Amino acid sequence: MRFTTTVFSTLIPFILTAAVRAAGPTPLDVFVPPITYPTAGTVWQSKTQQTVTWDVSGAPPVISNGAMLMLRKGNITAPFILAKGFDLRAGNLTITVPWVLTGQDYQMVLFGDSGDFSPFFTIESD
Ligand SMILES: *[C@@H]1O[C@H](CO)[C@@H](O)[C@H](O)[C@H]1NC(C)=O
Ligand SMILES: *[C@@H]1O[C@H](CO)[C@@H](O)[C@H](O)[C@H]1NC(C)=O
Repeated sequence: MRFTTTVFSTLIPFILTAAVRAAGPTPLDVFVPPITYPTAGTVWQSKTQQTVTWDVSGAPPVISNGAMLMLRKGNITAPFILAKGFDLRAGNLTITVPWVLTGQDYQMVLFGDSGDFSPFFTIESD
């Protein structure tokens, strides 16, 4: 009895490894949802709440990578994370517009598998 138990527990790691191999690597999704708001011509006041929206049609059943929303100005993505780890499938996220310099060259960057940029829009600050 003792012998059987020992043999069995010794085998468990091999059984598990074989099971993982059989399942194979999880196929990677590639999902870069296009931003639908803000659009060109959008003007946001800093420190207000705004809802960023994106198109979730064609979302894969499993989204493996973490979602992240960043701000970009003058073609430079700032090291500035507006939100992270939200549900990409929701199709929108309400954020507080940061208090930044007034400019017409802002873009939202939504990361799924890579970054999708919104058109240029305006943020006005007091
Ligand atoms: C940003 O890129 C766009 C498109 O490539 C270009 O028209 C624009 O002049 C660039 N702006 C800056 C500030 O580099
Ligand atoms: C935001 O997403 C939620 C959940 O998917 C949905 O119920 C709501 O209508 C969306 N709002 C906008 C403004 O798109």
